[in-house]
Amino acid sequence: MTATVIDGKEFAARVRGQVAEHVDRLKADHGITPGLAVVLVGEDPASQVYVRSKGKMTVEVGMKSVEHRLEADTSEADLLALIDQLNKDAEIHGILVQLPLPKHLNEDLVINSIDPAKDVDGFHISNVGLLGTGQKSMVPCTPLGCLMMLRDHHGSISGMDAVVIGRSNIVGKPMAQLLLNDSATVTIAHSRTKDLAEIVRRADIVVAAVGRPEMVPGDWIKPGATVIDVGINRLDAPERGAGKTKLVGDVDYDSCAAVAGAITPVPGGVGPMTIACLLANTVTACCRANG
Ligand code: GUN
Repeated sequence: MTATVIDGKEFAARVRGQVAEHVDRLKADHGITPGLAVVLVGEDPASQVYVRSKGKMTVEVGMKSVEHRLEADTSEADLLALIDQLNKDAEIHGILVQLPLPKHLNEDLVINSIDPAKDVDGFHISNVGLLGTGQKSMVPCTPLGCLMMLRDHHGSISGMDAVVIGRSNIVGKPMAQLLLNDSATVTIAHSRTKDLAEIVRRADIVVAAVGRPEMVPGDWIKPGATVIDVGINRLDAPERGAGKTKLVGDVDYDSCAAVAGAITPVPGGVGPMTIACLLANTVTACCRANG
């Protein structure tokens, strides 16, 4: 079998198109422009790339984009003061603090200082609790993008066996919760899991979110299963020329694609969906704020 490639780039463009239409209506009918503030502390190169890309796409769908770039040695008090100011700003409907933060800053404290209604990442403890109890919440963007692709491909995932590899607060845990809320049977695997290969072989849906390049080989995949690859790992690629690099996921693409029924590529799979979902969450936050 050769897997159907789930085109996240095309899907994300469609989602952004719907967001842009919604933004147009909010402006025309209500005089409201949704606003997203992104806060970046320090100079992590990968974070800078993400933040630039988020800002560009926010503007492209017609929303207001505000970026706050703070020095790596910014104090916790100064960061909390900025968040407080953004919480009170009526033109800002979504706030995202790019992670990871420099070590001297308490990530939990910072995230939980964001107004939960503006927490477009869905990381605030009250949004985590709402998601965990199946209530209306802000849903973390990467798992939401994965779920949208799964629903689009399968229609319903009710009763399917799903394995999530990785237990991070950003992806693994909310992903498992979303799959469970859609009535899949969910296993969360992680670095201490025994017989990982056997567990993955039973799954109709495999979501790989471990951050280890190409760690899932094709012979772990049940024939016909759907593979969602959340990993974005940069590897040296001397075969492409001196100093060149390439992006690979957490699954070994070629061997998995030979067995799977459907698979997301890296790049062009989950990545674009994450930003599209961030924009969609910002519109949702704006609509909720304005009744
Ligand atoms: N760093 C890596 N992924 C994310 C994300 O989804 N949100 C935030 N805020 N930081 C991240």
